[in-house]
Amino acid sequence: MSRIFITGSTDGLGLAAARTLMKEGHDVVLHARSRERASAIAETSAAALGLVIGDLASATETRSIAEQVNAIGRMDAVIHNAGIYLERSRGETPDGHAKTLAVNVLAPYLLTAWITRPDRLIYLTSGMHRSGSSALDDIDWKKRPWNASQAYSESKLYIATLAAAIARHWHDVLSNAVDPGWVPTKMGGAGAPDDLEMGHLTQTWLATSDEEAAKVSGGYWFHRQRREAAVEVGDVGFQEVLVEKLAGLTGVRLFEDGA
Ligand SMILES: NC(=O)c1ccc[n+]([C@@H]2O[C@H](COP(=O)([O-])OP(=O)(O)OC[C@H]3O[C@@H](n4cnc5c(N)ncnc54)[C@H](OP(=O)(O)O)[C@@H]3O)[C@@H](O)[C@H]2O)c1
Repeated sequence: MSRIFITGSTDGLGLAAARTLMKEGHDVVLHARSRERASAIAETSAAALGLVIGDLASATETRSIAEQVNAIGRMDAVIHNAGIYLERSRGETPDGHAKTLAVNVLAPYLLTAWITRPDRLIYLTSGMHRSGSSALDDIDWKKRPWNASQAYSESKLYIATLAAAIARHWHDVLSNAVDPGWVPTKMGGAGAPDDLEMGHLTQTWLATSDEEAAKVSGGYWFHRQRREAAVEVGDVGFQEVLVEKLAGLTGVRLFEDGA
């Protein structure tokens, strides 16, 4: 049985993944943005290994989340699931970043750096990553007029690229990206056409399965099938520029060897 930490497990795919893993007998550490949101999952958290609290829009709170997780112990797998979709404006996080970038990319980047390295890392991306731009000169939306859909698509391109870069740099960890499909959660909306069940079972499988098919790294997955990601994701030059940008924005370097 494995120990798994899941970000954004108060709702949607994160909560569904947590409940499935707990039903299978795994030890799950849940995450809520606030005490108030934690109270919404009191029944699930009573049966969990732990619950950590913090807002991923803030680097200080993200640091605290990592410390809370590390205090519980080393995880076998971390599912970086939390995300936000169409923000009305760029916003401004306590650290001065665009909120979509902060929650969808900078927070998982920082948690990856700060949480004791697990055996498996899973990052939730989206088919919309294909609409992300390969220009990396304004990833924090300081120059361009705000475009919520573009910002989301780019954030999902960056997180899929980060998963691939980690797979290339860290050979002691399995790092994969998952597109859950368009599923009916708070984010996806009631009319979303894909299956919520299949939308969360790829990440639970990658986190825990002993099947050889699940023990791979650097994959882009949809419904337990490997798919081709956008060409940038596997482009080493693109990966290295992105990782350098993320190090610059956060002040935290993920890889010792160069970028
Ligand atoms: N649903 C889809 O169709 C779809 C499609 C492609 C990709 N995805 C990806 O799948 C992942 C899960 O999406 P979902 O549909 O399950 O979304 P969701 O139902 O909106 O749930 C998102 C989770 O993330 C948490 N979260 C958001 N911002 C946070 C913050 N600043 N600090 C802490 N927690 C925060 C939410 O907390 P609260 O409950 O407090 O809001 C919630 O637990 C996301 O990464 C999303 O981009 C979803």
